[in-house]
This record gives sequence, structure tokens and C-alpha cells, in this order.
Amino acid sequence: MQSVAERAQFLRAEIERHDHAYYVLDAPTIPDAEYDRLFRELLVLEQAHPELVVADSPTQRVGGAPLAEFGQVRHGVPMLSLNNAFSAEEVAAFDRRCREGLDVDEVKYAVEPKFDGLAITLIYEDGVFVQGATRGDGYTGEDVSANLRTVKNIPLRLGADAPPRLEVRGEVLMFRAEFDSLNRRQRERGEKEFANPRNAAAGSLRQLDSKITARRPLRFFAYGLAEPDAVSPAPTFYGEMMDRLAAWGFPVAAERDVVCGAAGLAGYYARIGAARPTLPYDIDGVVYKVNRLADQQRLGFVSRAPRFAIAHKFPAEEALTTVEAIEIQVGRTGALTPVARLAPVFVGGVTVTNATLHNEDEVRRKDVRVGDTVIVRRAGDVIPEVVAIVPERRPILAPEFVMPKSCPVCGSAVERPEDEAIARCDGGLFCPAQRKQALLHFASRRAMDIEGLGEKLVEQVVDSAIVKTPADLYKLGLLALASLERMAEKSAANLLAAIDKSRATTLGRFIYALGIRNVGEATAKDLARYFGNLDALLAADAASLQQVPDVGPVVAASIVRFFAEPHNLEVIEQLRAAGVHWEEGEAQATVTSAVSGKTLVLTGTLPTLSREAAREMIEARGGKVAGSVSKKTNYVVAGADAGSKLDKAQQLGVTILDEVQFLELINA
Ligand code: IVH
Repeated sequence: MQSVAERAQFLRAEIERHDHAYYVLDAPTIPDAEYDRLFRELLVLEQAHPELVVADSPTQRVGGAPLAEFGQVRHGVPMLSLNNAFSAEEVAAFDRRCREGLDVDEVKYAVEPKFDGLAITLIYEDGVFVQGATRGDGYTGEDVSANLRTVKNIPLRLGADAPPRLEVRGEVLMFRAEFDSLNRRQRERGEKEFANPRNAAAGSLRQLDSKITARRPLRFFAYGLAEPDAVSPAPTFYGEMMDRLAAWGFPVAAERDVVCGAAGLAGYYARIGAARPTLPYDIDGVVYKVNRLADQQRLGFVSRAPRFAIAHKFPAEEALTTVEAIEIQVGRTGALTPVARLAPVFVGGVTVTNATLHNEDEVRRKDVRVGDTVIVRRAGDVIPEVVAIVPERRPILAPEFVMPKSCPVCGSAVERPEDEAIARCDGGLFCPAQRKQALLHFASRRAMDIEGLGEKLVEQVVDSAIVKTPADLYKLGLLALASLERMAEKSAANLLAAIDKSRATTLGRFIYALGIRNVGEATAKDLARYFGNLDALLAADAASLQQVPDVGPVVAASIVRFFAEPHNLEVIEQLRAAGVHWEEGEAQATVTSAVSGKTLVLTGTLPTLSREAAREMIEARGGKVAGSVSKKTNYVVAGADAGSKLDKAQQLGVTILDEVQFLELINA
């Protein structure tokens, strides 16, 4: 029979194995409930037999008694920093120095992401975690062992072949999704939110109460050893050393690679730059290290940084600036959006002067005021946003933001229904701001597709009152257009030709172009398909509208309200009179097929079908095309060079089709 000690030992090993699969390999091996059962059994055993509790038991990851202060740890091997490169030239110079220093024609580099977290060091004796510390000033750090013990992907015990003493260097950070949930929890509890994952990781790691740290979703990634030589047999290459770390149970970057020369470095920088938004954690650059460890030693160090490594930084995604004004933008549906006008600041590779503040509640929550110093973030192509204010830098007289009671553009009343976050201008198309947005939407590519009718021009024709409604566009003449400032006759003629061309359209586009609230492109197409002709749609009541796939009471009410407005009917009549036309058909129930009601995602290049053609085939059969893969996706149609969407589909177990399989499905 198994003794209690053996059972505890067995449970510890099992739990460690599952932790490693879950937190390090990202490939859970058992259901959560089963894991919880093992964990509870071990807890009960250890409670009944406290003598069985060992420091590296998974139960010890829950945190211990709070500390009065952190002890100091003197690093045996200093924790240095890296020199930075901000341009390809600086990287080329680094490569040249390495080549010259080693007297070779080409150098191989180990390359990996530069984690945006906190540097830490972990000490293992006889394969057991004994101490962990922060970097501090590089020579002395803080003893955060109790906190690090709670970080689920830091192994507390290493495999059997671990050396007697091992000091692992790496970074503690927080995954973006887990950071978002943490902030949501903080908000719900009325506690302080963190500005970014890095701050959240730092705040969590430097908690005197390790029970708090245990509840924070911290992660660790290893990027080196304090003394690679102390390992036997000593690894020859950095890459080999990292494989060894992974085999001992440490998480290492999946994106690490080995490349040749400056060209290889440049390629890696571009590759990781492109993948950056899809990584689960923030990175602020990539790190290049000479791959052969003996060569690293030969190159050595200069002052406080190695000569054999460099950090190639991405343009910062966050920067500090000041709020010069908070203005209100009025959108197509009258939504009032507060926008922060900022002192120009270079962030995420561009100069940013505005950032959306979303809505009134958001401004209140962040308490953004004119004069405030704020952290602005621009990640990838995402629109810039104000992350947080810097309270210490608030000027003495900074009045709180208040939403105006009347529209700043047309003076109409501003309404905000109690259960909605958005305040709206009541003015409808009387409001020039709404009129401009409505015209831009009407002319946009997926609506009437009037090439050349951009923001500037719409501004001009509305402000000079030549155009009040979309129907007025079709009455424009060369004379009126050419009279506008900075409008050459040639561009005026081109625009008129584009307007004329837009007269021939489809019912779906036309419905979408009307800009009915809650009616997007897909719904507009569904409506067109279901009703077949405009008059049938105009005559429909809420109940019959809800027969259309995906049209619920809210959308139906928006449509009824829109067509009940005499002004809107008048514009529609004028558009028809101006010659806007489409092929009308009989009302048809949606064609049913294997893709009816299903959501498909298209990715990569298909051998014969264009994206547009595939989309039309799907939509004509009552299916939907979505832009990203989620649990709700039914099929992913993948062609050549499919990227992250295909990976995601594989992860989620979504059915993947090639073009042939897709055509079979669609024609089934
Ligand atoms: S290697 C001698 N590799 O960047 C220093 N550092 O600016 C060797 N960092 O303090 C460091 N990701 O905290 C290395 N893949 C990576 C890294 C990395 C992030 C941090 C590290 C260090 C700082 C240097």
C-alpha cells in the first residue's frame, strides 16, 4: 500500500506536471475540475500531516505571511543591462563591431523578443528553488522569493539532471488578456487600475503580502544563466543553453531563433515587429546575442553592458504628453465623442495629436482634465488612446470635464438615455456634423462607392450649403463644383463622373448607404436579399423585419423609425428620381445551404477565387464572413500564406477548408 508520504509525493509530481503543461507548454492535459481535485487532495493531506509540507510543494504557491520589508540580495554575478539600437544603421554597426572583435566574416546571432517586464534572477540548489530577487541596481536587489514562488510557470523543482547550483535570469510579466481581466476585477472592486501590464507586473511582484501576488496572473520567461560555464557539460551555443533551460521546465520564448549577420537581424526585427500585436505579452524590441558562448566571453563587457548583445528597440508605444483641450466630435448617428487634443508627441512610430476618450463615463473614470499630463498609447494600427493621467502633474486649477447639454455643432439638445453610455445630438440631418458624416458614409467604398468624395470635399460642399442631402450630390454641376476653393476643373469632372457611375448600384449597397442606425453592411445585404425590392422593405413592419436572419427587435425598431421619418422617404424618392437604380427582384426567402447561418473566415490567397468572390458566394447562401477567428467561427477557408488566423483556427479546433472543400460545401 502507498504510504501517505508517497501519496503526497505522487500528487506533487502530478500537479507539477499539469502546471508545466498548462503554464509553460500552453497545452493543458486534464480538465480544470480534475486538477482541482488533485490539488485539494494534496492540501488536505498536508493539513493532516504538516511534516509532509515541503518548500517546493505546489500548495506553497498560494503565498505566505506578509513581510515587513524585503531583504537585500547581493548578486553573485551582476545583472547588467543592454545597450540599445534604434535604427538599422546602429544594428549594422553592432554587427561590424562583433565581426571585427571576433575577426570573422560573419557572425551567427541568437535572437528573441525583448520582454517588457521586470528582470529577476532565480537560484536553484540541488534542483530546488531557494531564492529569487529583483535586479535592483544591478548589484543588489530585493529578495522576492515568497512572491516568485507564487508565479505558476516558475518551476519550484527541476528535472533530475539539474546541476547542484543554477542561477537563471529572466523576466516577469503579465499577458495582456490577463492584465485586462485583472483591471476589470480591480475596477469592479473599486480598486486602483494599472496603467499597463508592465506596471501591473511590477506592482504585483513588489507586494509585501505574497497572498496578493498569488492572485495576480504573473508569468516568467527565462533568457539566460548567470554562469553558463557552471553547467556540465557546458553548452557551446546560446540556443543550446536555452533548450537546456526549456528541458528543465523553464518557459522560454517560442519566437527565439538563430540568424546570420546584419541581414538576418533585420529580417528578424521585421518578422517580430509584424507578429508583435499577436503575441500574448508586450515586447519593446528584440534582443540579439552572439550565439557562440565562447565568442560572447571573448567580446566581453564594456562598462555596464555586454559587447556581445544589443537590444533593438521598437518605437515606444506609450509616451507622456499634455491635454490641451477636450473637444466634442459629432458622429453620423449624432453620437458625441470627447476627444483629447494633445501636445504633439511621437509614439508608436507616428506623431499623435488627438486621442479618443470614448464617452462621458470613460472621461470620468480616467478623470482626464484639460492641462493634465497623460500617458498616451498607440499600439500597431490601433487608434491612439489616453491610458491614464499622471496625478502628480495636475495643474492647480483643472476643472472637471462636463458633457455639453447642447450640440457644439448645431446647438440641438443632447440626449443620453439612462441605460446608454453614449450621449447624442438630437439634430439629425439638420446638424451639419451629422450631415457630413452621413454623406461620407453614403459615398464610402462599401456603400455607393463614389471615388474622390473625401472628408475635405464633403466639408466644403456642406459648409457652402451646395449639398444638404445625399440626393443633392446627383444635382451637382461642373460650375458649382469648380467654384469651390482648390478645386481644379479636371478633378471636378472626375468627381461628377464618379457620382454618375454610382447611380447603378445594388439594393444591398443602397440600404447600407442610407446609414440607418444598427444596420451594417451584412444586415443591409440580408434585408435586400429577403425583401428583394425597396418598396417591400419600406412597407415592412417590425414583425416582418424580424423574419430576416439576425434582425432582432432593436434593429427592426431602428429600421421602422428610419422609414417613418418623412424627410428620409423624401431623400429616397429624390435619389430614385435622380436615377439611382438597382436590379429589383422578388422577395425571396434566403437560399438555404450548408453555410446558411454559419460564420466563415477567409484567410490567405485561394488558388482561383478572389476574397470578394468567395464572400459573395457565402453571403448569397445566407452565411456570414467574419474578420477574425473565434469560438463562434464555423469554418476557416485557408489559402496560401495564411497566417495567424489559421493558427488560431487550429488552436480552437475550428474546421479548416481549402478551396476545393469550400466549393464542395457551398454547393452541397
Ligand atoms: S539579455 C546582460 N534578453 O532588458 C544583460 N534581456 O535592457 C542580458 N530583457 O535588464 C540581458 N528581454 O530585463 C535579455 N530576451 C531578453 C530580454 C532582456 C528583456 C530585459 C532585461 C534587461 C534589460 C536590458
